Amino acid sequence: MMKILFVCLGNICRSPAAEATFRQLCQQQGTEQRFTWDSAGTAAYHIGKAPDKRMCAAAKARGMAMDDLRARQVKVSDFYEYDMIMAMDKSNMANLLSMRPVDSSADVKLMLDYIDSGQAEVPDPYYGDEDGFYEVLDLLDTACRNLHNKYC
Ligand code: 4NP
Repeated sequence: MMKILFVCLGNICRSPAAEATFRQLCQQQGTEQRFTWDSAGTAAYHIGKAPDKRMCAAAKARGMAMDDLRARQVKVSDFYEYDMIMAMDKSNMANLLSMRPVDSSADVKLMLDYIDSGQAEVPDPYYGDEDGFYEVLDLLDTACRNLHNKYC
């Protein structure tokens, strides 16, 4: 069983989209027993909130539901609970590394380590236009597929 935590800043755009993408992939492939997954934000701004409406609308247009998810903040116990913690960008990665306990068992990685495009980060769509949300979904679709196939 591989336990994966997807992390961004607010846990209302990128990481819940990653969680929903990975969940849908496991449901489609019948691999739900091989993984557990969740998502979280490094910041506390949106704790308890549903994902951003623009992210949900883009996901829905692609046939993916994510409005059931609720934001939470990363906690120290996540570094013992999860095998892999996937940061959406380098700033998330730096924040995660600064709070990681020395004896943590989790691997902290950049999400786009699992993509060949040369692009290192899933761009933050929060202050951008609608296209940015679709770009996030495109990147996550490829990265989640590669991550999923590597570990199942
Ligand atoms: P996320 O996007 O990190 O992909 O969830 C953001 C959500 C909220 C904010 C920034 C980015 N914010 O500044 O409130």
